[in-house]
Amino acid sequence: MTLKTANGAPVGASRRGFLSGAAALAGLAVATPRAFARASNRVEALLAQMTIEEKAGQLSCFADMIRPPIGDMNPLVNIRNAQTLTAEVKAGRIGVLMNGVGAQAAYDTQKAAVEGSRLKIPLLFAADVIHGFRTVFPIPLAEAASFDPHLAERTARAAAVEATATGLHWTFAPMVDVARDQRWGRVAEGSGEDVFLGAVMAAARVRGFQGKDLKADDSMLATPKHFAAYGAVTAGLEYNSVELSEATLREVHLPPFQAAFAAGALTVMSAFNDVNGVPATANKRLLTDLLRGEWGFKGVVISDYTADQELVAHGFAADDRDAARLAILAGVDISMQSGVYIRYLPELVASGAVPMATVDAAVRRVLSLKEAIGLFDNPYRSLDPKAEAAHTATPAMRALSREAGGRSIVLLKNDRALLPLPKAGKRLALIGPFADDRENVLGAWGGFFADRRLNVDLATGLRAQMADPNSLIVERGCEVETTIAGGFERAVAAAQAADIVLLAIGESQDMTGEAKSRTDIRIPAVQQRLAEAIAATGKSVVVLLRHGRAIALEGVVRDAPAILATWFLGSEMGNAVADVLFGAVNPSGRLPVSFPIDSGQEPFFYNGRTTGRPAPADPNGQEYKARWRSIRNDALYPFGFGLTYASFAVSDVKLSTARLAWNDTLHVTAKVRNVGQVHGEHVVQLYIRDRVASRTRPVRELKGFQRVSLAPGAEREVRFELKREHLMFVGDNDYWLAEPGVFDVWIANSSVDGLGASFELLAAGQG
Ligand code: BGC
Repeated sequence: MTLKTANGAPVGASRRGFLSGAAALAGLAVATPRAFARASNRVEALLAQMTIEEKAGQLSCFADMIRPPIGDMNPLVNIRNAQTLTAEVKAGRIGVLMNGVGAQAAYDTQKAAVEGSRLKIPLLFAADVIHGFRTVFPIPLAEAASFDPHLAERTARAAAVEATATGLHWTFAPMVDVARDQRWGRVAEGSGEDVFLGAVMAAARVRGFQGKDLKADDSMLATPKHFAAYGAVTAGLEYNSVELSEATLREVHLPPFQAAFAAGALTVMSAFNDVNGVPATANKRLLTDLLRGEWGFKGVVISDYTADQELVAHGFAADDRDAARLAILAGVDISMQSGVYIRYLPELVASGAVPMATVDAAVRRVLSLKEAIGLFDNPYRSLDPKAEAAHTATPAMRALSREAGGRSIVLLKNDRALLPLPKAGKRLALIGPFADDRENVLGAWGGFFADRRLNVDLATGLRAQMADPNSLIVERGCEVETTIAGGFERAVAAAQAADIVLLAIGESQDMTGEAKSRTDIRIPAVQQRLAEAIAATGKSVVVLLRHGRAIALEGVVRDAPAILATWFLGSEMGNAVADVLFGAVNPSGRLPVSFPIDSGQEPFFYNGRTTGRPAPADPNGQEYKARWRSIRNDALYPFGFGLTYASFAVSDVKLSTARLAWNDTLHVTAKVRNVGQVHGEHVVQLYIRDRVASRTRPVRELKGFQRVSLAPGAEREVRFELKREHLMFVGDNDYWLAEPGVFDVWIANSSVDGLGASFELLAAGQG
């Protein structure tokens, strides 16, 4: 693919041009360690000795039943599973084990591979280390609300330190799927609805997981997933089909992957869904032509869990054998859990249905991956039980979890400066199903590896900071979706006895995450009724929302004087929320997903394209405009929005030029002043809009953000750069292009406000 200008002339080298257009602000090109780019003599020598069965073994990943994460559920079955698996390892029929824990058992299993198998090829130990391990950090969506890639890098690093200490080499994270429909449960696992924020966070997490040296004991291979467009499942229904234009695929869903590869990710996971009728896991155009051809990715593609075998249910493969054939021919190197490669690759190669060269290329990549992390020289790296004890759930880990939690909270509403609350002198009633709940603080992946003894619930966190812990009354009122006998009455009595009510309501952990799509993104009905009963007492209510997606707030919950988006914050949830409630931490998070007015607006995202009939600003006279019968198609709380206890004024937006030459850089500057009473952090955002283009363009696009930390009265200049690459889009012919013309630019506090200016991008050779 070549990159073309508006008049069809190619601009620069094709691949670099493509990359710079796609994810320019992350500064991208696929990064491959030299050793990985070309297989070493050691890898070639091994390959030359391998039987087809041993090759298929290296391409097979299975759940680790030798050291299952959930412990000895059924000791006899476990022992049998462990024995079978160890025998398979010795026979060279497994290359990767996943989701096991424990350094000692990993050591023993590695020994079986290195001393017990013919070719002594070490195993890779992989796992879903998504947002922490023993110590759990905020769900990725919450952490995206921090708009703080440095924080994301630090929590990923910490997760890698803990996880590698239990004998892991590889995580199936970060999830980089852009999610524009809040009904989809896996919104929780990614960075939300925006491509720019998604790309920045993806790169930060890869850097964090992998660290600086892939061979270090605490480096963990990262896997951007799910390739591709899983976030675009129709109607937000999990595993559903995806219907997507090539332009939206390339502009919105692919750049976070490119950012992850540019940051050094060496593996990628193919998605469950189809893309325009071709399942991603059998999609040669995506997995080979685009990934390897256009982008030059040299790493390993692993299927999602049984996604290759599911080609049969998709109606794309005739049977399991056909599924294995289609997956390997499309470019899937490792088959996860289905076993179809180990079962069928030998006969597929023997019959000529799959060329040996295709299998060899995949094996070369897997062996090179093992070599890149130093496994051949040191198969026992990261398998030290002493390190396991020393690095698990340390005070530093817990402190980071608390800090990350505080930075992920978004203050949505704070009428009459109700927050922060005083630590003394007020009686507080903490009401709602999450008041003292310890089971729903971690998020959907929390159950897997977390040390749940660390979980801090809200009541515990609040009491720890109150001058008189007895002035907190706790009443659940109801469960997440059901009533408790007498619960409402007790909750109302508690509210009446208090000065201020903290209402902890929202979604349970298992209403979010994989396979947890919702048709309706409101608060469950019983909790809404509880909120109404509490509001009827007339007490001031602070809503503490628990959620893994945007929520459509309504009634008394929407109208409460103070609302905090507190997501699932991880092990230290109760402390992190208390820090913000009592003002030890000044909230500075911003929404990474738009909160719609109504569930029925989904899919809803701030950067939709222009229509021919936009709704006018004036709420009257909106007949025959792009709006709903009952409401405008606006957000209740837009992407990028969030308040603080300080107050910031942005002024003096200046452009270095009103006429940007084709190869020049535009500098946009503005002044930010803290006009509040307390120290705070402001997230300054830069959005653009292409006024006239050969394809309709988003009403706004985020192209930069900066966190500014200011004492009361202090002022700072912020500076952004815009180049032609930031103004590019995918044209009608599927090429990236930039078109000369006028662009609007805003320095903003959210996706719907800001101080505007405009400039013109001049054609090549002009100006
Ligand atoms: C999920 C993946 C995950 C895999 C392995 C699948 O169901 O879609 O994200 O990595 O399981 O646990």
